[in-house]
Amino acid sequence: MKKSQLIAGNWKMNGSLAANEALVRAVVAGLAGGGAACRVAVCVPSPYLAQVRSLCEGSALELGAQDVSRHGQGAYTGEVSAAMLEEFGVRYAIVGHSERRQYHGESDSVVADKARAALAHGITPIVCVGETLAEREAGQTASVVRRQLAAVIDAVGDGLARIVVAYEPVWAIGTGRTATPEQAQQVHAALRAQLRAATAQADGVAILYGGSMNAANAASLLAQPDIDGGLIGGASLKAPDFLQIIAAAH
Ligand code: 13P
Repeated sequence: MKKSQLIAGNWKMNGSLAANEALVRAVVAGLAGGGAACRVAVCVPSPYLAQVRSLCEGSALELGAQDVSRHGQGAYTGEVSAAMLEEFGVRYAIVGHSERRQYHGESDSVVADKARAALAHGITPIVCVGETLAEREAGQTASVVRRQLAAVIDAVGDGLARIVVAYEPVWAIGTGRTATPEQAQQVHAALRAQLRAATAQADGVAILYGGSMNAANAASLLAQPDIDGGLIGGASLKAPDFLQIIAAAH
């Protein structure tokens, strides 16, 4: 059976104690009033996990992190482990976001290790895959996302049924240029087929779309058969926009 869709906000490196409080209070109030049909999470910068955890308490809003170390503990300055995230009630951790692949040199195998580390602590990794514009124009979209997902499939074993995948075409992130519903569905269907070849539970694995999803285009993307939710950057920082996207999900 298909689960309800998942709408996850990725705040990236944005926020402040004051701004977070206003944003989360508004989202929680909106969820309480409308009774969202979907699951909803916000992935916040690590220093704010404790703050946002307490603001979410008693609400349907779940907590996520934007990254996790592939190591368990030790001399890894600046890293945050899955065990630490678990202590703060974190349910989701984004791994392999294109900004981490691009600016921090994260390889497919590092991303796969991170997914495995999250799963070992009961945290759902949101595994990001996606092609650059050059790769799309060279006809490499399918092979790039297949390679990125294959590394995770190989690493997580039985944990595969517990991951979330996010297709985020790099050319659509923060650019206002969204993949059309047809373009996104085509890639999502290929990812689904890849998951089906690896697990009998592939239909229960949520495949989110991310990349300039907003209040205006969410409904048509979320109506596609293999789009199971969204990973929202800029629009998740504005409560009315985020709530409108949530309202478009089922
Ligand atoms: P935007 O929604 O700002 O394009 O960001 C998408 C994204 O990268 C979410 O992880």
